[in-house]
Amino acid sequence: MIKKFTIAAIAMAFLTVSIGVSMAGEKGNARKGKYLFRKNCRTCHLEGGSAKELSPVSKTQAEWQKVFDNIDQLACKDEWAKLSEKDNLDIYAHLYGHAFDSPSPAKCK
Ligand code: HEC
Repeated sequence: MIKKFTIAAIAMAFLTVSIGVSMAGEKGNARKGKYLFRKNCRTCHLEGGSAKELSPVSKTQAEWQKVFDNIDQLACKDEWAKLSEKDNLDIYAHLYGHAFDSPSPAKCK
């Protein structure tokens, strides 16, 4: 009886985790976003680069939200246009998720 319950509990836990992971995937993958940000944004937005240095902690979550709501107003909107919707979501997850006032601010760039 107890064994059956344990198996059910493990199955439930596994299900919860897999649902959580797949939902996080829809919102964007911060780990991929970090890579994409370095590859597509940090080429210009780094110290000594052609645009001002940016990293997740450059802004608060509200400020990043504003950026992503108004991409068409950015000087580099043409660079953003090269990204897929999914890449955009991943970069958002990285920047917003590790913003200055987020629960886990980025420690390195
Ligand atoms: C070809 C160079 C280039 C690339 C690539 C580029 N940007 Fe920019 N970006 C600029 C320039 C130039 C400006 C305007 C001047 C400035 O803010 O330094 C700007 C402005 C911005 C701003 C507004 C400045 C601020 O502090 O609010 C944000 C945010 C931004 N870029 C984010 C990004 C992100 C995210 C990416 C990657 C998806 C990206 N940029 C890719 C050149 C670039």
